[in-house]
Amino acid sequence: MSVPLTRAVGTRTRSEQLLERAKRSVAGGDSSTMRVLPYHPALLIDRGKGCHIWDVDGNDYIDLNMAYGPLLFGHRPSFVIEQVVHQLQEKGSQLGFPQELNFLVAEKVKQLFPSIDLLRFANSGTEAVASSIRLARAFTGRRNIILFEGHYHGWSDTVFHKYHAAETLGDEAFRPVIPGTEGMNGAPHDAFVVRWNDAAALSSALDRMRGSVAAVLMEPVMGNAGVIPPLPGYLAAVRELTRAHGALLILDEVITGMRVAAGGAQQLFAVTPDLTVLSKALGAGFPIAAFGGSAEIMDLVASGRMFHGGVYAGNAMVLSAANAVLTKVLAERSRLYSELNTRVSQLADGIKGILRRRNVHHVVQHVGPMIAMILTKTPVDSLVDYHQVRRHADFERFIELQHALLDNGVYIHPNQYEPMYLSTAHSKEDIDEVLSRLDETVQHWQR
Ligand SMILES: Cc1ncc(COP(=O)(O)O)c(C=O)c1O
Repeated sequence: MSVPLTRAVGTRTRSEQLLERAKRSVAGGDSSTMRVLPYHPALLIDRGKGCHIWDVDGNDYIDLNMAYGPLLFGHRPSFVIEQVVHQLQEKGSQLGFPQELNFLVAEKVKQLFPSIDLLRFANSGTEAVASSIRLARAFTGRRNIILFEGHYHGWSDTVFHKYHAAETLGDEAFRPVIPGTEGMNGAPHDAFVVRWNDAAALSSALDRMRGSVAAVLMEPVMGNAGVIPPLPGYLAAVRELTRAHGALLILDEVITGMRVAAGGAQQLFAVTPDLTVLSKALGAGFPIAAFGGSAEIMDLVASGRMFHGGVYAGNAMVLSAANAVLTKVLAERSRLYSELNTRVSQLADGIKGILRRRNVHHVVQHVGPMIAMILTKTPVDSLVDYHQVRRHADFERFIELQHALLDNGVYIHPNQYEPMYLSTAHSKEDIDEVLSRLDETVQHWQR
């Protein structure tokens, strides 16, 4: 069934008009480049509730992006909003002093992530990752860091590299990174990129840089270039290699923390990092991040030898949101994640069935409620690293599908590297509806 949209052909929508107006005061029209990509249809969203979003033209979409991941409980979850409103009305958003919420939230994070003895809060994944690298360098007294092709860790000068490195890396084990944007003055400094999901490549890089690597930083599930799970045994091999070389293993669980399991990818794959970075699901839509690890390493922060700060770091309003999230996750984790996994299987199996039936080449992969639908140029069974994603992904075709799906009332991001995310607000009926709209969309799109 199709949904009547107010985006009538030939007329300018309110979204288009308002985005044009925005561009006269906000650089590019919005404050994240990802939200105003040239191939993203003009879409100004007015509000969200549960798994639905409504644009300023009044169109209703089932949202499979969930604000790029944080909305594990959907838009405007009442149990979070109530806590935040209570905090704002009764106590204040920003107190400028240590407060109880600080340790109440930290204690709950520790229950879920046994690898963390001590942590610090920050405002964004970018900040928390940059702090974790500074900490690793301070702790080890070493300078080099190892990053991976296709992984994203925020936009700081510490790590933002052109992760489209497949063209340059070729078959070499590792290379210095290429700056991710203009204006980085040659940064990231002392940073090298290695092929992911390839323990031999990492081993070779660590051997060649013996004694100089402070940290190996990775997304435990590659989530910024499709959804690529670690190959069996890969994370264990990484753990062993980093330990043998005296390098810290930093898991960037900005996406996977509280998403692929209550205790993140480290719980799901039974790997213990030295440092962990958390963000998205922790705040359920409020801007919070955290980095933490063993007491021995974090002592550098506790003692002030490694500086970390921020006026808004550990802000009371966002901590009240995180407290609500963690209370719920701790109390209901087994039911929560089992239901999320049932929903994601329904969606993944449904998408595979439709695309197979309609002869669209694809790879659908998921880890917990993060899922990638990659359209490929030729038949491919699975994708295990960034080289393969780059080689096989059919970007143009995916953008066409995204636009057509939008006209049918389903929102996915037009960049197929962006995972789709499910929330506890997506019911079986919502997924049935998504699948029925996808089927209809693909059927017409094929003609
Ligand atoms: C794995 C990962 N790390 C770090 C970041 C940066 O987080 P932020 O955008 O909050 O700075 C992101 C953002 O999407 C991410 O996906």
